[in-house]
Amino acid sequence: QQSKQAWPYPEFVAHRGGGTLAPENTVAGFREGIRYGYRAAECDVKLSADNVCFLLHDDTVDRTSNGKGAARAKTMAELSQLDAGGWKGAAFAGEALPTLANVAAYCRAQSMLLNIEIKPCPGRFEETGRLVAQEAARLWAGASAPPLLSSFEIDALRAAQAAEPALPRAFLCEEIPADWRAILAELDCVALHCDHKTLTEALARDIKAAGYQLLCYTVNDPADARRLLAWGVDSLCTDRLDLLPARG
Ligand code: G3P
Ligand code: MG
Repeated sequence: QQSKQAWPYPEFVAHRGGGTLAPENTVAGFREGIRYGYRAAECDVKLSADNVCFLLHDDTVDRTSNGKGAARAKTMAELSQLDAGGWKGAAFAGEALPTLANVAAYCRAQSMLLNIEIKPCPGRFEETGRLVAQEAARLWAGASAPPLLSSFEIDALRAAQAAEPALPRAFLCEEIPADWRAILAELDCVALHCDHKTLTEALARDIKAAGYQLLCYTVNDPADARRLLAWGVDSLCTDRLDLLPARG
């Protein structure tokens, strides 16, 4: 078995590409991240009806495109016809709903680190974990840093682990469960990612002492950011690239 790769965990990670400054999960968002000096971004990835890995947060396309309906019922050809930018403002009209391959090309060209959140459509947990991991390994072959895979769905992470054990993984949770040590060990994770509102200083110190990286989402207040970094949190995932300028 190949040994698992590390992920650099920069202090700030742009949420959904470019946070709230651009349409989420689009290349326009990643461009915003580059403009603000960010080295890393997070995005949500799921499968189309014909098993193409693409970027979308919700189960339906309604909120973030000009289309309607369940994402899992649409082929990539259908998803590619949608305008994923116009809802955010006229300046973004015509922005495409990207595939993971589109984003990999952009991130690799810009040396941008990527945290791929595996966000399966309902009922597609295992296959999404497996196919996203395989596609990520293929798209980042030979890259200087691998993509980081994270998910709220343990079944998706387990499938990713079985398919591509060398890709770094993180267990994502809103509230940290009491058995976090067992979960991280079983999934052979490099990190825990949690909602910053549920983290305590004691838990942060325990997670770090156990040898894991720690990322909090979604941190938009500079005072919260300072406090969390002082607790030893490695990375903060933020919507406010303008308020939390990446350092260094
Ligand atoms: O990966 C961190 C964060 O993106 C998790 O929540 O709902 O924004 O995907 P959500
Ligand atoms: Mg996400």
